[in-house]
Amino acid sequence: MLKICAGIKLIVIAGSASPRLSARVARELECELIKPVVKRFPDGEFYVRIEAELRGEHVVVVQSTCSPQNDNLIELCFLIGAARDLGAKRVTSFVPYLAYARQDKRFKAGEAVSVSTVCKLIEAAGATDFVTIDVHHDEVMRNFSIPAYSLTAMPLLGQHLNKLKLRDPVVLGADKGSIDRAKRVSLEMGAEHDYLEKKRISPRNVVVKPKRLNVLNRDVVIVDDIISTGGTIIEAVRMLKRQKARRIYAACTHPVLVGKALQKIKIAGVKNIISTDTIEHPVSRVSVAPLITDVL
Ligand code: R5P
Repeated sequence: MLKICAGIKLIVIAGSASPRLSARVARELECELIKPVVKRFPDGEFYVRIEAELRGEHVVVVQSTCSPQNDNLIELCFLIGAARDLGAKRVTSFVPYLAYARQDKRFKAGEAVSVSTVCKLIEAAGATDFVTIDVHHDEVMRNFSIPAYSLTAMPLLGQHLNKLKLRDPVVLGADKGSIDRAKRVSLEMGAEHDYLEKKRISPRNVVVKPKRLNVLNRDVVIVDDIISTGGTIIEAVRMLKRQKARRIYAACTHPVLVGKALQKIKIAGVKNIISTDTIEHPVSRVSVAPLITDVL
């Protein structure tokens, strides 16, 4: 784990994609928050300036690489580079949502392994260590040669859900890959957990059901790392309603929520969507700021 070295000041730099989270991180760390100048030239290029004395200090750059991903990524790299040029001894890159993490393999010959290049860019910009939250697959961290950590927000989501006093709740991973996330949430709620399995019952018919638990008359929480178009959740809700689940909640770390996803999920019958501030969104009810203090 990372350590704060004695005698070195900690300073948080707020990337423009994460203004509220940056402020919360600075509060948690009880340290100075610097808002850099980030502007655009008339041709669209970025201009970044950090007006602060950083020599010898430990800087934490907080910047989500949510949409517009490429702009936010380049701003992150410029901030890291500027902090290093100003003499910062350590530059921790805190990227709560790591863009391109789902393209972590070459699924077809000739494809770019996008996230591998993203990690190399961040490291080449000058980051001395890297922290993210609930990266799609932990193996992504192996793309770095600097210390790199993916922390999980699942216990925080579980603590929030626990306050909602759900009735006989069952926590379901949106798919098999989310079973561990569902488990972490359920532990905080003292609830059972399972995952949703797709079963082909005939050539034209696929059902989505919990692998082993019954949802009849129970409140259900569907857990995923990302909700993007909402397609996965909407399909699950349709099926869970047929299985007579009571109220259905959706919880995720990263509320990507493209286009009308939020509206569609609500229309499908989800009572509440609960997510974190890795991407700042009206459904971001849980802050991941306390996690960074654990790792620092
Ligand atoms: C996929 O592997 C992820 O864990 C999510 O299930 C997926 O990104 C959700 O996408 P959507 O909301 O578009 O179904």
